[in-house]
Amino acid sequence: MTVSASAPATKSRVLIAGATGFIGQFVASASLDSGRQTYVLVRPGLAGCLSKSKVLKSLHDKGAIILHGSISDRENMAKILKDHEIDIVISAVGGANVLDQIGLVEAIKAVGTIKRFLPSEFGHDVVRAVPVEPGEQMYKDKRVIRQLIEEYNIPYNYICCNSIASWPYYDNKHPANVLPPLDHFKIYGDGTVKAYFVAGTDIGKFTMKIVDDVRAINKSVHFRPSSNFYNMNELASLWEKKIGRTLPRATVTEQDLLDIAAENIIPESIVASFTHDIFIKGCQSNFSINGPDDIEVGTLYPDEAFRTVDECFNDFALELKDTAMDLGSKANAAPNHAVESMALSAPCALSV
Ligand SMILES: NC(=O)c1ccc[n+]([C@@H]2O[C@H](COP(=O)([O-])OP(=O)(O)OC[C@H]3O[C@@H](n4cnc5c(N)ncnc54)[C@H](OP(=O)(O)O)[C@@H]3O)[C@@H](O)[C@H]2O)c1
Repeated sequence: MTVSASAPATKSRVLIAGATGFIGQFVASASLDSGRQTYVLVRPGLAGCLSKSKVLKSLHDKGAIILHGSISDRENMAKILKDHEIDIVISAVGGANVLDQIGLVEAIKAVGTIKRFLPSEFGHDVVRAVPVEPGEQMYKDKRVIRQLIEEYNIPYNYICCNSIASWPYYDNKHPANVLPPLDHFKIYGDGTVKAYFVAGTDIGKFTMKIVDDVRAINKSVHFRPSSNFYNMNELASLWEKKIGRTLPRATVTEQDLLDIAAENIIPESIVASFTHDIFIKGCQSNFSINGPDDIEVGTLYPDEAFRTVDECFNDFALELKDTAMDLGSKANAAPNHAVESMALSAPCALSV
């Protein structure tokens, strides 16, 4: 058997914090798919949340080992890392809990055996992007964690995977959970600024390739699939093709986004500040990644394809069709109208 020079011969043991969250689910699933021994850390009190309990059950059914605790508890984290001989730690805690990672970083330092730590990043390069507040506070917190990791000489990766493949609603932190628009598009600025869109499953898949790839150690890993580089106008046209009709377009100006950000309603204002940074300032592509601390994921795995935005939009269109058929058979009602109101009233939840 030949072993790739980039990966170790034995599979590492992985601990994932935030595995019941939006991004963490993809990472935990990919870790299990890669055949690694996968431990997921869960805070007490999950029983009350049906959707998170379901995620946890499905991870458990796939072989995940569930551990309890909070990453802010340094002593417990150090014990977990030691007792389970963890090699790789991945955190995907939400934006409000970024500083909880200080306890985890301290534990990693104390144990001294962790081969790679991936803090909760999974968005933009937080040292290069400077969104307006309240979005920047999350980046300030992420910068604090980066500084601590580097000060302690902990081997790391920062995953800069850019936007999740979906319609980028300016007020929804998890837009991939919602269908693209069915009544009209809101286009930011003139709709010509481009962004990179990555399917959640690819965020998970490539993250799990990177974790023990020696070529990536101590680097920010940027996800810039050229096939998925779209502006708002192009995304809108793509979705129109999928639904077979055109929709009116309304402009959301730079000032509109700044005003929503300034309202400081959390999380919507945070999403608005990131939306401004992406689709007005072009924060995903206004810098080059040729530095010694950067690597583009496609250069590491040139033969691995990304799911295209086209394929992801096909999935949304299928979902729409299935929902319309369900509603049609149940209520014999006008399906398109019913589906539109359902998608539009879907819960707002966000984050980069
Ligand atoms: N690129 C993108 O488009 C995009 C989109 C979304 C998020 N992100 C980024 O991805 C990261 C994850 O965000 P998310 O939205 O996926 O998060 P999320 O859905 O809010 O989930 C957060 C997870 O972290 C867990 N958690 C929080 N504090 C914890 C603690 N102290 N100890 C252990 N577990 C803890 C939560 O568990 P409980 O159930 O106990 O609360 C939950 O499972 C963030 O850095 C965010 O900025 C990027």
